[in-house]
Amino acid sequence: MTQDELKKAVARAAIDYVPQGIIGVGTGSTANFFIEELAKVKGRIDGAVASSEATAQRLKSHGITVYELNDVGELEVYVDGADEITAHMHMIKGGGGALTREKIVAACSRKFICLADQSKLVDVLGRFPLPIEVIPMARSYVARKLVQLGGQPRLREGFTTDNGNVILDIAGLNIMNPVEMETRLNQIVGVVTNGLFALRPADVLLLGTTDGVTTMRA
Ligand code: 5RP
Repeated sequence: MTQDELKKAVARAAIDYVPQGIIGVGTGSTANFFIEELAKVKGRIDGAVASSEATAQRLKSHGITVYELNDVGELEVYVDGADEITAHMHMIKGGGGALTREKIVAACSRKFICLADQSKLVDVLGRFPLPIEVIPMARSYVARKLVQLGGQPRLREGFTTDNGNVILDIAGLNIMNPVEMETRLNQIVGVVTNGLFALRPADVLLLGTTDGVTTMRA
C-alpha cells in the first residue's frame, strides 16, 4: 500500500469518532483525506472549527459550515495528522506550518484523534526537524537560543504562517523528554509556538499499517 492509501484508510476509520455537533479539523494531507470522508457524512455534524485558512477553505468547498473557535467554546473531538508520534502519544507537528492554530484547537478539545501512517511512529522524536513559529523580528535571537540548546535552526524560506509569522525548522534535536523540551522552548522570548505536542498529547492514534488500521492509546 502507498503512504496515501494508508492515510486514506485512517481517515475513513476516524469517521467512527465523529460525534454530533461541531468538531475540530486539522491541517495537512491526512487531514485533507479526513475532510473528504467527513463530507460524505456531513449531515451528522453541525460544522467544524478549522486549524488553518487552507482547511477552512477546503471544508467550505465541501459545504461544511466553518465556525470561529471563539464562538463555540469547547469541542468534543479534534482530528489531525502528525509528522512524528510516539507510543506515549507525544507528537511533532507543524510540517504544514499550522502548528499554532492546531495547538489552540487541540487545547480546546476534549479528545485529540491523531491520524498517521506507520512511517510516523517513532521511538524518539526529533528526526523530523521541529517547527517553531516565531515573531519575525525575533528570528535571529530565537535562532541563537536554539543553537545553544543543540539544534540547527533553518528558516522556512518563502513561508508566512496564517498569523503573519515565520517558521524555524530545528534539525539535530534528540528529544528524550518532550514535555521538558516543549516547556523550555515556550520560555524563549519571540517564540509563538513550538511543534511539540506533549503537554497536550493525542488521546487516540489511528495508525495506518499494511495489515490495517491499528488503534493506540497512551
Ligand atoms: C500541519 C501538520 C500536519 O498534521 C503534519 O505536517 C502532517 O502532515 P501530513 O498529513 O501531510 O503528513 O502538523 O501543520
